[in-house]
Amino acid sequence: MRILSVVGARPQFIKLAPIATAMRGRAEHLIAHTGQHYDELMSDVFFQDLGIPAPDFNLGVGSGKHGAQTGAMLAGLEEIIESSAPDCVLVYGDTNSTLAAAIAATKLHVPVAHLEAGLRSFNRRMPEEHNRVLTDHSADLLLAPTQVAMEHLANEGLASRSVLVGDVMTDVLYKVRDSLRDSVADLPPGMIRGDYYVATIHRPDNTDSPARLEAIIEELASLDKPVLLLAHPRLRGLAEAHGINLSRGSIVLSPPLAYPQLINAAQNSAGVVTDSGGLQKEAFLLRVPCTTIRPETEWVETVALGWNALVSDDLTRLASTVQRPAPAATDATPYGDGQAAGRTVTALLDTFGA
Ligand code: UD1
Repeated sequence: MRILSVVGARPQFIKLAPIATAMRGRAEHLIAHTGQHYDELMSDVFFQDLGIPAPDFNLGVGSGKHGAQTGAMLAGLEEIIESSAPDCVLVYGDTNSTLAAAIAATKLHVPVAHLEAGLRSFNRRMPEEHNRVLTDHSADLLLAPTQVAMEHLANEGLASRSVLVGDVMTDVLYKVRDSLRDSVADLPPGMIRGDYYVATIHRPDNTDSPARLEAIIEELASLDKPVLLLAHPRLRGLAEAHGINLSRGSIVLSPPLAYPQLINAAQNSAGVVTDSGGLQKEAFLLRVPCTTIRPETEWVETVALGWNALVSDDLTRLASTVQRPAPAATDATPYGDGQAAGRTVTALLDTFGA
């Protein structure tokens, strides 16, 4: 059986890593990279560090407005799917690359499987929410990471196409965490174990308004420990455009980190402050308190278990929330056991195999 994985953005490379490993010896696996992310630190380092095979196809679409970017991917993926004739196209998460691949395959009558299906923020301002809903409803196999995701799919009439496989980000995180245990990884320069925070901000709702971005940066700058701010290119670009200085107060500005370095930095920190989906969950799996700068989260389990706190409308609460006492310990495993990739390949073979 031939499976074509389509990826394009940073979180998708991380999810691809355990899938590529689990495919070995079980299916012919081709990889198409749309080129949505193209900087070395946003793309190449993930392939190198996580041992992912080089993509078989690279569209190099680059950045652009949503319609232009998604449309360029759609046209390019149509050619790739036609020429490679896969038995199934596997799409990951909720980016524009996900939606483009789902539409391209559906139009060519090639079955689509969606990994990380069923997540919902119920916030239609988020481009990711459109991408998820549209992808789930066009897919033939919905591979859900959590029980809550399964419930969302059932509520939308998609239960018969849904399988609970667990979260592949748990697979990769556990593997990297264990490999870090066997080596002595350096902390980022100037950071002392347990005495700094890790922060990332990249969502349009937080970066595009100068007043909101300024308020967030001001709160981070006022924190009681150094704040390692890992700046996505979007944050750097918009801060510069708005005339907002990111290097001030407690903030120590850093380029984005490669995955093992990010996990090392997060697990040795006193807390994470983010608007990323993946990092909220990684903080929980590492049992590091997280503060999420969003009105809601798809990863509701992290909040219910006390390890994640949301701050959005009242940004003056941000610093005090980050500095809150540590939550009660938990041994809950809502994101699976680290074996989701193997279950994913089994579900693909069972559903689409000859
Ligand atoms: C995308 C995903 C988001 C995911 C995030 C992870 C969509 C709609 N959003 O958001 O769900 O959480 O990736 O990082 O697909 N840029 C560079 N170099 C790069 C990539 C981007 O400079 O390698 C800059 C460009 O100015 C670009 C901007 O970042 O316009 C935004 O990139 P884009 O891929 O459009 O969206 P993200 O914000 O990264």
